[in-house]
Amino acid sequence: MARPEAELLRIADMAALEQVVKGCTACRLRAGCRGVVFGDGNPAARLMLIGEGPGADEDRLGRPFVGRAGQLLDRILAACGFDRQRHVYIANVVKCRPPGNRTPTPDERAACLPNLRAQMRLVNPVIVVLLGSTALQALIDPAARITRWRGQWIHRDGVWYMPTYHPAALLRNPSLKRDCWHDFKKVIDKYRELVDPYH
Ligand code: URA
Repeated sequence: MARPEAELLRIADMAALEQVVKGCTACRLRAGCRGVVFGDGNPAARLMLIGEGPGADEDRLGRPFVGRAGQLLDRILAACGFDRQRHVYIANVVKCRPPGNRTPTPDERAACLPNLRAQMRLVNPVIVVLLGSTALQALIDPAARITRWRGQWIHRDGVWYMPTYHPAALLRNPSLKRDCWHDFKKVIDKYRELVDPYH
């Protein structure tokens, strides 16, 4: 069962929210995975990264972005001077692995969105990097294409969103890395402007 969004939004700390989300059976995904992959990093970070959903490695280890795409993401973050456990909080649109790593369906995304929104309310980020089209569509516009929207700031409800390519897309097509690096340089600049001028 899913908890009503209003109830999730009243939960005051991340550990309590994690316990509630771990009991979520709002969609079919929970029945086909090992466990809920809730989130990782610093819940007090001003920078949040949002991916699509856990893959096989994440499902096994219970943490987001720990497989090949995650290792590439770690290298990108390190190149930006961001420490994964200190400067960022990482979550996914869906918290349970879709079978065979397929893209989560619109109803699965919608079922999990209250969990992500509750996480975002607790982190209260200044900057959110949307990794790929699932995150872009879930939070900004269901019809948005990452190829058109990447690299452009979206300022909504006081939060600066930067859509960019998902690291898995970079692994499939390394020629996208240049654009992605461009986008992350904008994130560094915004972080210096709004969070820490000495970063
Ligand atoms: N891809 C995602 O979108 N999220 C993960 O946690 C791992 C791979």
